[in-house]
Amino acid sequence: MPTDDSVKISPPQRSTPLPPSEVPSASKVVWEKFTPQKRFDRQMYHYGNFSQNFLWGVSSSAYQIEGGWNADGKGPSVWDTFTQKPGSGIPDNVTADIACDSYNKLKEDLYMLQALKVKSYRFSLSWSRIFPNGRRESLNQKGVDYYNRLINGLLARKITPMVTIYHWDLPQALQDIGGWQNVEMINIFNDYCDFCFATFGDRVKFWMTMNDPQGLAWLGYGTGQIPPNTEEPGTAPYQIAHNLIKAHATAYHTYDNKYRASQRGMVSIALNFNLGWFAHPIFKNGDYPEAMKAQVLVKSELQGLSQSRLPSFTEEEKNSIKGTADMFCANHYTSKIVTHVTGAILPPSYQNDRDYIEEEMTDQPTTAVEFTRAVSFGMRRLLNWIKEEYGDPDIYITENSVSTPMEYAYDDIDRVFLYKTYIDEALKAYELDGVKVKGYATCLMDSFQFFHGYQFGFGLHYIDFNNIHRPRTPKFSAHLYYNIMKDNGFSLPDDEKMLYGEFKKDFIWSSATASYQVRLSTQTDCIWDKFTHTPGNILQHDTGDIACNSYNKMEDDIAALKKVKVSHYRFSVSWPRILPDGTTKYINQAGINYYKKLLDSLIAANIQPQVTLYHWDLPQALQDVGGWENETIIERFRDYADILFENLGPKVQLWITFNDDRPDTLPYIVSHNIIKAHAEAWHVYNDKYRASQNGMVSITVNADWAEPRNPYKQEDYDAARSVVEFYLGWYAHPIFNGDYSPLMKRSVLELPEFTPEEIKRINGTYDYFGLNHYLSRVFKSAKSWTNSCYRGVVLLRDRTWLESGSHWLTMTPFGLRRLLKFIKHEFGNPPIIITENGVSENGPVDLNDVHRKYFYEKYINQVLKAYLLDDVNVIGYTAWSLLDNLEWAVGYTERFGLFYINRSDPDLPRTPKASVSFYSSIISCNGFPDPASGPQECWNSTSTPTPTLTPKPEGKKINFLESKLSFSDSRSD
Ligand code: NOJ
Repeated sequence: MPTDDSVKISPPQRSTPLPPSEVPSASKVVWEKFTPQKRFDRQMYHYGNFSQNFLWGVSSSAYQIEGGWNADGKGPSVWDTFTQKPGSGIPDNVTADIACDSYNKLKEDLYMLQALKVKSYRFSLSWSRIFPNGRRESLNQKGVDYYNRLINGLLARKITPMVTIYHWDLPQALQDIGGWQNVEMINIFNDYCDFCFATFGDRVKFWMTMNDPQGLAWLGYGTGQIPPNTEEPGTAPYQIAHNLIKAHATAYHTYDNKYRASQRGMVSIALNFNLGWFAHPIFKNGDYPEAMKAQVLVKSELQGLSQSRLPSFTEEEKNSIKGTADMFCANHYTSKIVTHVTGAILPPSYQNDRDYIEEEMTDQPTTAVEFTRAVSFGMRRLLNWIKEEYGDPDIYITENSVSTPMEYAYDDIDRVFLYKTYIDEALKAYELDGVKVKGYATCLMDSFQFFHGYQFGFGLHYIDFNNIHRPRTPKFSAHLYYNIMKDNGFSLPDDEKMLYGEFKKDFIWSSATASYQVRLSTQTDCIWDKFTHTPGNILQHDTGDIACNSYNKMEDDIAALKKVKVSHYRFSVSWPRILPDGTTKYINQAGINYYKKLLDSLIAANIQPQVTLYHWDLPQALQDVGGWENETIIERFRDYADILFENLGPKVQLWITFNDDRPDTLPYIVSHNIIKAHAEAWHVYNDKYRASQNGMVSITVNADWAEPRNPYKQEDYDAARSVVEFYLGWYAHPIFNGDYSPLMKRSVLELPEFTPEEIKRINGTYDYFGLNHYLSRVFKSAKSWTNSCYRGVVLLRDRTWLESGSHWLTMTPFGLRRLLKFIKHEFGNPPIIITENGVSENGPVDLNDVHRKYFYEKYINQVLKAYLLDDVNVIGYTAWSLLDNLEWAVGYTERFGLFYINRSDPDLPRTPKASVSFYSSIISCNGFPDPASGPQECWNSTSTPTPTLTPKPEGKKINFLESKLSFSDSRSD
């Protein structure tokens, strides 16, 4: 059958042999380049595409999927022998006698491949199916026919076959003569390869002689965990590796001499982990790395041996080995931390010959199988290493996947994250670093795992191993992978493209603080004083005693606000500073005067106040009588509000009664009383002050956005929707729509009830919708209510989202727009003021806060989209926070400020971070000017976005489609 013309692979380009690696290798530039990377830069998602003819594919191996272990004359392999004997150590003593039954399910496999629309399929040939006793004399035509049918079926579907000639399943008969410890194997293997080239090479153009010889050497001959279960760790791995390398090279030359001219294919070897052992001889000078030779020699001498346990190649052998690969094939899964250790004389073994230990990266996501953490950035580094070390070869990633527990058969979110992050790192290597990444293959379907049998899934398709028909079902990851292949990488999603335009005139541009977080609090007595002074509550003993000393540094704060060019400043009043015991028994005039002065100074600076009555700092005296659980607090709060409206109201147009206090761990009576207290304060204003003062009063609700784990599943949409409805509606539903939502009532058995009069009194007590928003989260539905906070749903973390200095905060700009639309629909299109939105950092101080610039640019741009494209009536935006302040229970470690405060300087100076001029440019321009219309006066050139932030040129002509992943999009506008 002629090769289909549309199946294109690069022409052969045998690698030019290279000089040996220096010690230490010059390729250490890879670490020099990437190790100092900031987490933000490392995690920044890269949008782009691979080359047109990128070979997207899937992979498998014969023993793991074929079954038919003795069908039609197949001989046994070492794996058949091993697994069929009791005590193999494979969980449940399973075998791959049937596995996925691919030997009998060729049609099904081809169908799967066709449906996925892959360009390539990597599979291996079962040596003992073709030569039952390992040698040509035993040729089994039926086995050959099977592979012919497979290859022809692939080509008919325009899928390029990538063939591994030998993937660990040595014919048992060859093991019986000593296996790879017998040098005769070199010729025997060569003859088998010769046969394969001759028989299939007219159609197969991509060959790997063998798979992961390093794994075979160490596990088969060092630890003895896999066949042939030889445990001679000091010598056997080196001996057999020596033979494997020679066998590979011999087969390569056979192809070169007999087939290359006519067949024009490519030949290589698939390597994994410790590359140098095999890659150095093959891609460089035909010999082991100098470092390895020296190291094994030293260890051997220490043992008193007269020569190294590492065998050496003759000059002739070296000449024949070097350059025997036309491309680099890499199987890649995980990365480790390596620490140099010396000293201990350990029993000789390949592992102990290395003076280092490998450890897991414990800060990276775990997977179902131990020691295989998902370390996506390792992919980029590995690819760069291969480029630097092995002469910039064409690279094919021939294996990459992750194990997921069988109970999440279809909803394999971890595999989805793996593809999104690992493939993106490969894309960075290709597009940003110029690495010649040419192809990628992941695991086609769940199959027999060499160590774990059928305990975990590795594939895009779920196989029901209890069903004799072995049905193949695509998982969530298959849908995702299909889309990645279709997109040929990751194109910038429409909803992440920049929109240029302006906000409404008189848009409120603000920045915020809260009393306890920034003001000297030694003159007050609130619940936070008690909390921060109780040993053990805050690890580093931070308190708000001084905080940013805003009480005494009014001028500095106003200077900071002027620098940002905000039109408004959101601050909160300290209740105990006005009413020390929380009641009107004693009114502290000095406190009132302080706030009057602050208001006057702000207004003089042309900054309008936006005042929060209560931001969590309850007078301790009120807490002592039950705090928010005691119904009398409703009156107390009303009286407090009355005093503020009376004294400060003439100078204030914008009031926030409460900064959302979400008592997840507290009884529902707390929020119940807060809602009632809010309503009373609103009525006081409405009845006594509105006519003369004409301001706006509302509550501020804190809400996250929620995304479904699996967007192909209705129940996950429902879970995400219920989270938003529940949390947003908790305070907002009674205030905007009257009473708790039906969902709340259904979900919370202990929910207190409002009387009909209360419902009426609360309903409508708003002048705008105040929203604090930071992030989105991912949810899936749960059968049982396992988590008290998220009822009936389970919270997950999307690993592609950028992290911040707070463990709970990932940067998810798209969520803000979706939330704004949701509020519009759910609460009758109210005017919305975003009363908080911001991001933190921790660790060393860096005034160039690129992550915050990114955050404000992307989040505010989403607000603009909500305003311009979705007609959301958003009238204001507030950046949290003006200053690095006391971040509640974590003290001063997480810094949200636009201004840095050096806490070791008693003067607590406010120093602007880079984000100040960036945010102030957005404010001055009242949005985002189109770069296509040239430089804008309002845009401060020093705040120019970093390269990652450069707006895409096509930004102006956005066809603004929304992401399919949002459930709010399914609603009609
Ligand atoms: C919301 C709170 O209102 C504010 O006080 C806090 O600092 C920010 N979230 C950041 O956690």
